[in-house]
Amino acid sequence: MSVRETLEKRRSVRQYDPQYKISPETLATLIEGASKSPNGNNIQATRYLVIDEPYLKNLLLPIAFNQQQVIEASVLIVILGDYQAFEKENIIMIHEDEFQKGYFDASVRDYLTNAAINYYLDKSKEDLKVELIRDASLASMSLVLLANEAGLETITMSGYDSEQLKSALNISDRYLDVMLIAMGKGMKEGHKTARHDVNKVIYKNKI
Ligand SMILES: Cc1cc2nc3c(=O)[nH]c(=O)nc-3n(C[C@H](O)[C@H](O)[C@H](O)COP(=O)(O)O)c2cc1C
Repeated sequence: MSVRETLEKRRSVRQYDPQYKISPETLATLIEGASKSPNGNNIQATRYLVIDEPYLKNLLLPIAFNQQQVIEASVLIVILGDYQAFEKENIIMIHEDEFQKGYFDASVRDYLTNAAINYYLDKSKEDLKVELIRDASLASMSLVLLANEAGLETITMSGYDSEQLKSALNISDRYLDVMLIAMGKGMKEGHKTARHDVNKVIYKNKI
């Protein structure tokens, strides 16, 4: 299926087969694909906390305002941004790895490393939060498309209490919770949704 076809067919699905299991291998393949998404300076800050334990899903149900997909979908993935990815050591390690793999020479390694370190140097926590949201959102969309391609359905979710979720799952302040993605075998097709006429959303040269 082409990307266009997948996008045309995709719906947010809210009813899932609770018996259906996604194998860890399938999930790892999907996440590995999503990790190829563009991300700022390739610091690779997105993390995927996979929740498949029934007791944890039940714990999260009221936190996600009793949205049934939380317990019925095969997995609930907490998409996280890792603030530690902005640290110098991570930036150096990633570019050194790419250099060692022969993807570029030492001068490019040094240029990219220094550029990335300087880019984040004076950023506020709020600026860094935006960086994490950008990267995690791009990876999330890739994950949704890859899941659809694999015959699975998804729903991206922000309908949950962030503080309660972090407390229930012991997620420290090192991480930003960006969204949840429920994934599984859809039981009922999501309803159709309309979009603005494209000419209503395109602006040329000024807005
Ligand atoms: C960031 C984000 C958060 C969302 N949160 C929820 C949610 O908590 N519950 C829900 O039922 N749908 C949620 N949705 C799904 C949207 O309602 C849905 O994408 C939109 O209505 C368009 O429908 P479609 O995805 O089927 O095209 C969310 C979507 C996004 C992108």
